[in-house]
Amino acid sequence: MNKLAFTNPIYVTRPLLPDLKDLMARLQEVWDSQWLTNFGAQHKLLEQRLTKLLKVQNVSLFNNGTIALITACQSLRLSGEVITTPFTFAATPHVLTWNGIKPIFCDINPETMNIDETKIESMITPETTGILGVHVFGVPCNVKVIQDIADRYGLKVIYDAAHAFQCEINDIGIGNFGDITMFSFHATKLFHTGEGGALTFKDHNLKQRLDLLKNFGIKNEEEVVMPGINGKMNEIQAALGLAVLDILNEEHIKRERLLEVYREQLSDVDGITFQKELKSVTQSSNQYFVIRINENRFGTSRNTVHDRLKKYNVIARKYFYPLCSDYTCYRHLPSSKKENLPVANMVVNETLALPLYGRLTEDDVIKICDIIKQESPSIPAPHGGL
Ligand SMILES: Cc1ncc(COP(=O)(O)O)c(C=O)c1O
Repeated sequence: MNKLAFTNPIYVTRPLLPDLKDLMARLQEVWDSQWLTNFGAQHKLLEQRLTKLLKVQNVSLFNNGTIALITACQSLRLSGEVITTPFTFAATPHVLTWNGIKPIFCDINPETMNIDETKIESMITPETTGILGVHVFGVPCNVKVIQDIADRYGLKVIYDAAHAFQCEINDIGIGNFGDITMFSFHATKLFHTGEGGALTFKDHNLKQRLDLLKNFGIKNEEEVVMPGINGKMNEIQAALGLAVLDILNEEHIKRERLLEVYREQLSDVDGITFQKELKSVTQSSNQYFVIRINENRFGTSRNTVHDRLKKYNVIARKYFYPLCSDYTCYRHLPSSKKENLPVANMVVNETLALPLYGRLTEDDVIKICDIIKQESPSIPAPHGGL
């Protein structure tokens, strides 16, 4: 077998797993309490710990990030049209549709790959009620300019920070920007509860509304005050989250080092660029490492690199291909036209998310980079070429 090929598949990520003994200790507490869901002790403790860790004023836990985002739109009473990005996971525009809101796709910035704040204003109509930005791959949107636009037009701002756990701008937790921020705690995320999510927000009045909305609108035994949903995080999810929190810092440090190796190995390769790191970001989420491959300069397309990596047992992902604006349910929208989204349509054919998780070794990363570099006709083949 080729020297560079991995014996076992190297996925884009692997869940962070606490020692089973530590998890069992927490589960024992759940068992002793005989309380499995509905705002139990683990839930309360996780909310408290996340409020501190994320440096936010309020946290409301949910059973997943998608339901959290649907509930966020409900709580702010968004309607009509909401401006968002097409370069994101399916959940982002879908939560708008589930709220009867029309997603309006705005083009993205080629360097940050986030919604292009300079194009938002031209998309506002009398129907617009909000902006739904995504801090894609953990790199923040231009929160200052977006807030300024929202204030001038009386719009609400929601951020999908599914990838941006613990990211900070000038030491301020990312969950403090906009009206509400959503975090996903899916197993693929650095911090996770298996499935799960949370909303963070400054307005204390929202806490009660969100807690009602995620519990069917039940206020007490006698009163149901709004048409809520079941969005509650259960005690087993919360217990897993608390156990994961204990090993999070170590994972952050390991990923930091792997990111350094990736950058060292690929920074001089003509045709490969990285998502722009912003100077204002004082703490990164270390969730993903995404490269862009310019076919003309690199000599080979993103798709070819992706397929070649697969032959070596490296499962990189073409996030976020296809664009949401190309889904059958959205491509009829006027804002989905390719002329409206030239940058997104270019970027989506060039991005590749490479494996990143603490159990990878530095040698693994060097091998992955060697396989990628092997693609470029301008770079001599490394040891053990095909
Ligand atoms: C950008 C983005 N938004 C929303 C979600 C949905 O989160 P969840 O899987 O927790 O429902 C994801 C999911 O992974 C995501 O990547």
